[in-house]
Amino acid sequence: MTRELHLNAFLMDTGHHEASWRLPESDALAALGPRHYVRLAQLAEDAKFDSIFFADGQVAIGTGEFRASGQLEPLTLLTAVAGATSRIGLIATASTTYNEPYALARRFATVDHVSAGRAGWNIVTSATQEEAANFSLADRPLQATRYERADEFLDVVTKLWDSWADDHQVGDKEAGVWGDPTRLRAIDHVGTHFRVAGPLNVPRPVQGYPLLVQAGASEQGRAFAAKHAEAIFVAHQTLEQAQEFYADIKAQVAAAGRHPDHVVVLPGLVPIIGSTEAEATALAQQLDDLRIAGYGLRQLAQYLEVPESELPLDEPLPRYVVEQERREGFDSRAKLVIDLAEREGLTVRQLLGRLGGGRGHHVLIGTPEQVADHIETWFTQGAADGFNIMGAALPSGLETFIETVLPILRARGLFRTEYAGTTLREHYGLPRPANRWDAAVGAPAADVSAEAVSHA
Ligand SMILES: Cc1cc2nc3c(=O)[nH]c(=O)nc-3n(C[C@H](O)[C@H](O)[C@H](O)COP(=O)(O)O)c2cc1C
Repeated sequence: MTRELHLNAFLMDTGHHEASWRLPESDALAALGPRHYVRLAQLAEDAKFDSIFFADGQVAIGTGEFRASGQLEPLTLLTAVAGATSRIGLIATASTTYNEPYALARRFATVDHVSAGRAGWNIVTSATQEEAANFSLADRPLQATRYERADEFLDVVTKLWDSWADDHQVGDKEAGVWGDPTRLRAIDHVGTHFRVAGPLNVPRPVQGYPLLVQAGASEQGRAFAAKHAEAIFVAHQTLEQAQEFYADIKAQVAAAGRHPDHVVVLPGLVPIIGSTEAEATALAQQLDDLRIAGYGLRQLAQYLEVPESELPLDEPLPRYVVEQERREGFDSRAKLVIDLAEREGLTVRQLLGRLGGGRGHHVLIGTPEQVADHIETWFTQGAADGFNIMGAALPSGLETFIETVLPILRARGLFRTEYAGTTLREHYGLPRPANRWDAAVGAPAADVSAEAVSHA
């Protein structure tokens, strides 16, 4: 079987370029309602993308002066998108640091049922200091603690999704048996962070588990991904960095006893496309001219975990910032940004210009052929299984990609012309996980008395 390229449409506001909302064509308030996202998802579905994706955080970003400081909650938003689409996969971000496994397992299982097997979960541990203050914590938990909790969180949610056997529901009216009680199991999880009895109160998801996606690339992030992730979102600036990550993560997946093909690596790509290079450059310049330095500086300071006042615009990054070994928050993104500044000898002002398009994701300014060449090179040279396509402006960036780059990829036999399957897992060529309890001999049945199940 020929290897198939995968495309995920990463949808954010009016686009990933931080000044996209200021373009004449943009609806600056689009991100505040569902319609914009439904339209984008339909566009991506018509083009046979594998999935769409919403990022998320648990805090208002900045003051809201230079860009929307918040957005709709993505898992809820996905239910509106699910109702308006039929095939495309639907991936939402949710934090393992600021949720409880039972509640989140239930919500994702529900979205998987509502969408007939199209749900995916971007598992994040929440890197910012500010989010902690919204959850009754004085401090953000340390990175090691966040990943340790995430690991146990995954153990609990997958146990909960397995707590209903696929064939639990019988619906035998004659016999008066709604479900087979031996096929509904307690999980009785007792761990460091969680004590959860189970079973879940939603049937096993259509896909067994929603697709498990992960987006952290530090040492601990990679170890977590190798154990749990089936798709990985990642940011890279160079082919060499992408190849290093790809080889390392596939080796770690194999070392964890999993098949390397069962993890799909999707670097971000922000294509700024023109029919000539000059046209593409002019579009990039138009966006760059609309940037507001204050917005980018705040974000850069957050990645680097220094006050904005430590980053004078016309100087290189301070040495102590460059030499800091690791950070508790966006560790891998900080390293990417520092590496970019060092490699190209950039001042802070120049660095902000390079980050404005995609926060450190690869920005490619060029013709449709150049974008297609980039995708083919990374796909065939051991750097990617597909891409997170990040329109600099939305919808125009996605429309242009679909109209001009996809025909080239299809002519080269790289991208599908029709969906082969119906679930998100099928689009990504990933197996439906077996139910762990089916294999377990003598697993205890849940104590489901009439009182326990009747709350209504
Ligand atoms: C494509 C992509 C999307 C991400 N989306 C989110 C998100 O929605 N919410 C979030 O809190 N972090 C998000 N992150 C950040 C990661 O979850 C992680 O915190 C960050 O990459 C640092 O991880 P590390 O500590 O393993 O390096 C995203 C990262 C990438 C590369």
